[in-house]
Amino acid sequence: MIVLSHYQARPMLELRHGRLNALSTSLDLGLTQSEVRIAPIGVVFPDGQVLHWEKIEEICRSENACFLVEDSDIIKIQTYTEELQRFYSLMPTQRAPTMLLSGIPMHRIKEVDPYEDTMRKYKTISPIIGRVLDTCTGLGYTAIAAARTAEQVITVELDPNVLWIARRNPWSSALFDNPKITQLLGDVSELIQQMESETFLRIFHDPPAFRIAGELYSGEFYQHLYRVLKPGGRVFHYIGDLESTTGRVVAKGAVKRLQEAGFTMIARKQEAFGLVAYK
Ligand SMILES: C[S@@+](CC[C@H](N)C(=O)[O-])C[C@H]1O[C@@H](n2cnc3c(N)ncnc32)[C@H](O)[C@@H]1O
Repeated sequence: MIVLSHYQARPMLELRHGRLNALSTSLDLGLTQSEVRIAPIGVVFPDGQVLHWEKIEEICRSENACFLVEDSDIIKIQTYTEELQRFYSLMPTQRAPTMLLSGIPMHRIKEVDPYEDTMRKYKTISPIIGRVLDTCTGLGYTAIAAARTAEQVITVELDPNVLWIARRNPWSSALFDNPKITQLLGDVSELIQQMESETFLRIFHDPPAFRIAGELYSGEFYQHLYRVLKPGGRVFHYIGDLESTTGRVVAKGAVKRLQEAGFTMIARKQEAFGLVAYK
Protein backbone atom coordinates (compact mmCIF):
# COMPACT_ATOMS: atom_id res chain seq x y z
CA MET A 1 0.00 0.00 0.00
CA ILE A 2 1.38 3.41 -1.01
CA VAL A 3 -0.11 6.45 0.75
CA LEU A 4 1.08 9.98 0.03
CA SER A 5 0.34 13.49 1.21
CA HIS A 6 1.66 16.90 0.21
CA TYR A 7 4.53 16.36 2.68
CA GLN A 8 5.96 13.69 0.36
CA ALA A 9 4.66 15.05 -2.97
CA ARG A 10 6.21 18.52 -2.70
CA PRO A 11 9.86 17.40 -2.58
CA MET A 12 9.11 15.13 -5.58
CA LEU A 13 7.74 18.07 -7.54
CA GLU A 14 10.74 20.19 -6.64
CA LEU A 15 13.00 17.64 -8.37
CA ARG A 16 10.91 17.60 -11.57
CA HIS A 17 13.20 19.89 -13.54
CA GLY A 18 16.36 19.19 -11.56
CA ARG A 19 19.28 16.89 -12.25
CA LEU A 20 18.64 14.36 -9.48
CA ASN A 21 16.73 11.31 -10.61
CA ALA A 22 16.18 9.53 -7.31
CA LEU A 23 14.65 10.56 -4.02
CA SER A 24 14.48 8.93 -0.63
CA THR A 25 10.98 9.52 0.70
CA SER A 26 8.22 7.84 2.66
CA LEU A 27 5.44 5.86 0.99
CA ASP A 28 3.62 5.28 4.29
CA LEU A 29 3.17 8.79 5.71
CA GLY A 30 6.52 8.93 7.44
CA LEU A 31 6.78 5.49 9.03
CA THR A 32 9.53 4.13 6.75
CA GLN A 33 11.76 5.39 3.94
CA SER A 34 11.84 4.14 0.33
CA GLU A 35 13.50 5.26 -2.88
CA VAL A 36 11.51 6.59 -5.84
CA ARG A 37 12.76 7.46 -9.33
CA ILE A 38 12.17 10.90 -10.79
CA ALA A 39 11.40 10.48 -14.50
CA PRO A 40 10.36 12.99 -17.21
CA ILE A 41 6.76 11.73 -17.14
CA GLY A 42 6.42 11.46 -13.37
CA VAL A 43 7.49 9.49 -10.32
CA VAL A 44 8.30 5.79 -10.55
CA PHE A 45 7.63 3.76 -7.39
CA PRO A 46 9.53 0.64 -6.28
CA ASP A 47 6.61 -1.59 -7.38
CA GLY A 48 6.76 -0.17 -10.93
CA GLN A 49 3.74 2.16 -10.70
CA VAL A 50 4.20 5.54 -12.36
CA LEU A 51 2.41 8.64 -11.14
CA HIS A 52 2.21 11.41 -13.71
CA TRP A 53 3.23 14.91 -12.67
CA GLU A 54 -0.33 16.24 -12.77
CA LYS A 55 -1.28 13.70 -10.07
CA ILE A 56 1.69 14.77 -7.94
CA GLU A 57 0.54 18.39 -8.39
CA GLU A 58 -2.98 17.43 -7.30
CA ILE A 59 -1.62 15.87 -4.08
CA CYS A 60 0.43 19.04 -3.41
CA ARG A 61 -2.69 21.19 -3.76
CA SER A 62 -4.71 19.11 -1.25
CA GLU A 63 -3.07 19.98 2.04
CA ASN A 64 -5.84 18.36 4.12
CA ALA A 65 -5.92 15.03 2.32
CA CYS A 66 -4.00 11.77 1.94
CA PHE A 67 -4.03 9.69 -1.24
CA LEU A 68 -3.78 6.01 -1.93
CA VAL A 69 -1.67 5.21 -5.01
CA GLU A 70 -3.25 2.36 -6.99
CA ASP A 71 -2.90 1.30 -10.62
CA SER A 72 -0.80 4.42 -11.32
CA ASP A 73 -3.68 6.61 -10.15
CA ILE A 74 -4.60 8.35 -6.91
CA ILE A 75 -7.66 7.87 -4.67
CA LYS A 76 -8.43 10.47 -2.02
CA ILE A 77 -8.89 8.75 1.35
CA GLN A 78 -12.33 10.06 2.23
CA THR A 79 -15.84 8.73 2.65
CA TYR A 80 -19.36 9.77 3.66
CA THR A 81 -21.96 8.08 5.87
CA GLU A 82 -25.45 9.01 4.76
CA GLU A 83 -27.32 7.82 7.92
CA LEU A 84 -25.11 9.87 10.26
CA GLN A 85 -24.50 12.63 7.70
CA ARG A 86 -20.80 12.46 8.56
CA PHE A 87 -17.98 13.09 6.14
CA TYR A 88 -14.59 11.53 6.95
CA SER A 89 -11.15 12.14 5.49
CA LEU A 90 -7.59 11.29 6.44
CA MET A 91 -5.64 14.47 7.12
CA PRO A 92 -1.82 14.48 7.13
CA THR A 93 0.36 16.11 9.75
CA GLN A 94 4.15 16.10 10.07
CA ARG A 95 3.75 12.86 12.06
CA ALA A 96 0.71 10.56 12.39
CA PRO A 97 -2.34 11.67 10.37
CA THR A 98 -5.66 12.47 11.97
CA MET A 99 -9.16 11.94 10.65
CA LEU A 100 -11.46 14.84 9.95
CA LEU A 101 -14.99 14.06 11.14
CA SER A 102 -17.18 16.53 9.25
CA GLY A 103 -14.27 18.97 9.28
CA ILE A 104 -13.29 18.46 12.95
CA PRO A 105 -9.95 16.75 13.64
CA MET A 106 -10.27 13.60 15.75
CA HIS A 107 -6.96 14.31 17.50
CA ARG A 108 -5.12 17.40 18.58
CA ILE A 109 -3.13 19.02 15.77
CA LYS A 110 -2.25 22.42 17.25
CA GLU A 111 1.01 22.44 19.27
CA VAL A 112 0.54 18.71 19.91
CA ASP A 113 0.40 16.18 17.05
CA PRO A 114 -1.89 13.10 17.00
CA TYR A 115 0.92 10.80 18.15
CA GLU A 116 1.86 13.00 21.11
CA ASP A 117 -1.86 13.47 21.83
CA THR A 118 -2.25 9.68 22.11
CA MET A 119 0.84 9.34 24.33
CA ARG A 120 -0.51 12.01 26.68
CA LYS A 121 -3.82 10.15 26.98
CA TYR A 122 -1.92 6.90 27.52
CA LYS A 123 0.24 8.30 30.32
CA THR A 124 -2.72 9.56 32.37
CA ILE A 125 -3.76 6.00 33.29
CA SER A 126 -0.50 4.10 32.87
CA PRO A 127 0.59 1.48 33.62
CA ILE A 128 -1.84 0.05 31.09
CA ILE A 129 -2.45 -3.44 32.38
CA GLY A 130 -5.08 -6.17 32.33
CA ARG A 131 -8.08 -6.01 30.00
CA VAL A 132 -8.66 -2.58 28.49
CA LEU A 133 -11.82 -1.10 27.00
CA ASP A 134 -11.34 1.54 24.30
CA THR A 135 -14.84 2.94 23.81
CA CYS A 136 -14.30 4.74 20.49
CA THR A 137 -11.87 3.20 17.99
CA GLY A 138 -11.45 6.03 15.46
CA LEU A 139 -8.04 5.52 13.86
CA GLY A 140 -7.20 3.07 16.63
CA TYR A 141 -4.32 5.04 18.11
CA THR A 142 -5.41 4.63 21.75
CA ALA A 143 -6.16 0.92 21.17
CA ILE A 144 -2.77 0.38 19.51
CA ALA A 145 -0.91 2.20 22.31
CA ALA A 146 -2.82 0.28 24.99
CA ALA A 147 -2.09 -3.07 23.31
CA ARG A 148 1.65 -2.61 23.87
CA THR A 149 1.31 -3.53 27.53
CA ALA A 150 -2.31 -4.61 28.09
CA GLU A 151 -3.39 -8.22 28.20
CA GLN A 152 -6.25 -7.57 25.78
CA VAL A 153 -7.94 -4.51 24.28
CA ILE A 154 -11.61 -4.38 23.30
CA THR A 155 -12.27 -1.43 21.01
CA VAL A 156 -15.68 -0.28 19.74
CA GLU A 157 -16.48 1.74 16.62
CA LEU A 158 -19.93 2.91 15.55
CA ASP A 159 -19.29 3.58 11.88
CA PRO A 160 -17.76 1.00 9.49
CA ASN A 161 -16.68 3.89 7.25
CA VAL A 162 -14.28 5.06 9.98
CA LEU A 163 -12.64 1.62 9.81
CA TRP A 164 -12.56 1.90 6.00
CA ILE A 165 -10.37 4.99 6.46
CA ALA A 166 -8.29 3.34 9.23
CA ARG A 167 -7.55 0.40 6.88
CA ARG A 168 -5.95 2.85 4.47
CA ASN A 169 -3.91 4.59 7.17
CA PRO A 170 -0.42 3.06 7.58
CA TRP A 171 -0.33 4.32 11.19
CA SER A 172 -3.42 2.22 12.01
CA SER A 173 -2.12 -1.12 10.71
CA ALA A 174 -1.66 -2.67 14.18
CA LEU A 175 -5.39 -2.20 14.75
CA PHE A 176 -5.93 -4.96 12.20
CA ASP A 177 -2.79 -7.04 12.85
CA ASN A 178 -2.32 -7.09 16.63
CA PRO A 179 -4.01 -10.24 18.00
CA LYS A 180 -4.39 -8.52 21.39
CA ILE A 181 -6.92 -6.10 19.86
CA THR A 182 -10.55 -7.19 19.43
CA GLN A 183 -12.70 -4.87 17.35
CA LEU A 184 -16.43 -4.53 17.94
CA LEU A 185 -18.71 -2.70 15.57
CA GLY A 186 -21.70 -0.90 17.05
CA ASP A 187 -22.88 1.77 19.46
CA VAL A 188 -20.80 1.47 22.63
CA SER A 189 -23.68 2.89 24.71
CA GLU A 190 -25.67 -0.23 23.69
CA LEU A 191 -22.85 -2.80 23.59
CA ILE A 192 -21.61 -1.86 27.06
CA GLN A 193 -24.94 -3.02 28.51
CA GLN A 194 -24.05 -6.60 27.61
CA MET A 195 -20.49 -6.43 28.95
CA GLU A 196 -19.63 -8.30 32.15
CA SER A 197 -19.26 -6.31 35.37
CA GLU A 198 -15.77 -5.65 36.80
CA THR A 199 -13.91 -6.91 33.76
CA PHE A 200 -11.58 -4.02 32.73
CA LEU A 201 -8.65 -2.49 34.63
CA ARG A 202 -8.35 0.50 32.32
CA ILE A 203 -10.80 2.34 30.06
CA PHE A 204 -10.03 4.89 27.36
CA HIS A 205 -13.13 6.97 26.70
CA ASP A 206 -12.32 9.23 23.76
CA PRO A 207 -15.72 10.21 22.33
CA PRO A 208 -16.61 12.77 19.66
CA ALA A 209 -17.54 16.24 20.94
CA PHE A 210 -20.41 16.48 23.44
CA ARG A 211 -22.69 18.22 20.92
CA ILE A 212 -22.54 15.29 18.48
CA ALA A 213 -22.42 12.35 20.92
CA GLY A 214 -24.17 13.54 24.11
CA GLU A 215 -25.18 9.97 25.06
CA LEU A 216 -21.49 9.15 25.64
CA TYR A 217 -21.38 11.85 28.33
CA SER A 218 -24.61 10.79 30.08
CA GLY A 219 -25.02 9.60 33.67
CA GLU A 220 -26.39 6.30 32.40
CA PHE A 221 -23.31 5.66 30.25
CA TYR A 222 -20.98 6.61 33.14
CA GLN A 223 -22.80 4.10 35.38
CA HIS A 224 -21.92 1.38 32.88
CA LEU A 225 -18.28 2.56 32.74
CA TYR A 226 -18.22 2.25 36.53
CA ARG A 227 -19.89 -1.16 36.46
CA VAL A 228 -17.53 -2.76 33.90
CA LEU A 229 -14.42 -1.36 35.64
CA LYS A 230 -12.65 -3.50 38.23
CA PRO A 231 -12.15 -2.00 41.72
CA GLY A 232 -8.85 -0.09 41.57
CA GLY A 233 -9.39 0.56 37.85
CA ARG A 234 -9.08 3.90 36.07
CA VAL A 235 -10.87 5.66 33.21
CA PHE A 236 -9.37 8.35 30.98
CA HIS A 237 -12.17 10.54 29.61
CA TYR A 238 -11.24 12.97 26.83
CA ILE A 239 -13.13 16.26 27.10
CA GLY A 240 -11.19 18.90 25.11
CA ASP A 241 -9.29 21.92 26.41
CA LEU A 242 -10.38 22.11 30.06
CA GLU A 243 -9.54 25.81 30.10
CA SER A 244 -11.78 26.73 27.15
CA THR A 245 -15.33 27.95 27.76
CA THR A 246 -16.90 24.78 26.30
CA GLY A 247 -14.35 22.50 27.98
CA ARG A 248 -15.08 24.04 31.37
CA VAL A 249 -18.83 23.52 31.02
CA VAL A 250 -18.54 19.96 29.66
CA ALA A 251 -15.99 18.97 32.34
CA LYS A 252 -18.14 20.37 35.15
CA GLY A 253 -21.16 18.29 34.07
CA ALA A 254 -19.02 15.20 33.44
CA VAL A 255 -17.37 15.40 36.89
CA LYS A 256 -20.79 15.67 38.57
CA ARG A 257 -22.24 12.69 36.69
CA LEU A 258 -19.06 10.59 37.15
CA GLN A 259 -19.31 11.19 40.92
CA GLU A 260 -22.99 10.27 40.89
CA ALA A 261 -22.07 7.08 39.01
CA GLY A 262 -19.81 6.10 41.93
CA PHE A 263 -16.29 7.22 40.95
CA THR A 264 -14.52 8.18 44.17
CA MET A 265 -11.81 10.43 42.81
CA ILE A 266 -11.69 12.47 39.61
CA ALA A 267 -8.53 14.28 38.51
CA ARG A 268 -8.22 16.95 35.84
CA LYS A 269 -5.47 16.29 33.30
CA GLN A 270 -5.12 19.46 31.28
CA GLU A 271 -1.98 18.15 29.49
CA ALA A 272 -4.19 15.42 27.97
CA PHE A 273 -7.35 17.57 27.71
CA GLY A 274 -9.31 15.14 29.87
CA LEU A 275 -10.28 13.67 33.21
CA VAL A 276 -9.16 10.56 35.03
CA ALA A 277 -11.77 8.81 37.15
CA TYR A 278 -10.75 6.20 39.74
CA LYS A 279 -12.87 3.35 41.10
C1 LIG B 1 -12.32 11.02 18.82
S1 LIG B 1 -12.56 9.64 17.84
C2 LIG B 1 -11.62 8.40 18.69
C3 LIG B 1 -10.14 8.47 18.38
C4 LIG B 1 -9.41 7.25 18.84
N1 LIG B 1 -9.32 7.18 20.27
C5 LIG B 1 -8.01 7.20 18.23
O1 LIG B 1 -7.05 7.07 18.98
O2 LIG B 1 -7.88 7.28 17.00
C6 LIG B 1 -14.21 9.16 18.22
C7 LIG B 1 -14.74 7.94 17.43
O3 LIG B 1 -15.91 7.47 18.08
C8 LIG B 1 -16.80 6.97 17.12
N2 LIG B 1 -18.14 6.93 17.74
C9 LIG B 1 -19.07 7.91 17.76
N3 LIG B 1 -20.15 7.51 18.45
C10 LIG B 1 -19.88 6.25 18.88
C11 LIG B 1 -20.62 5.29 19.62
N4 LIG B 1 -21.84 5.58 20.09
N5 LIG B 1 -20.07 4.06 19.85
C12 LIG B 1 -18.82 3.80 19.39
N6 LIG B 1 -18.07 4.66 18.66
C13 LIG B 1 -18.60 5.87 18.42
C14 LIG B 1 -16.64 7.94 15.97
O4 LIG B 1 -17.12 7.37 14.76
C15 LIG B 1 -15.14 8.19 15.99
O5 LIG B 1 -14.49 7.29 15.16
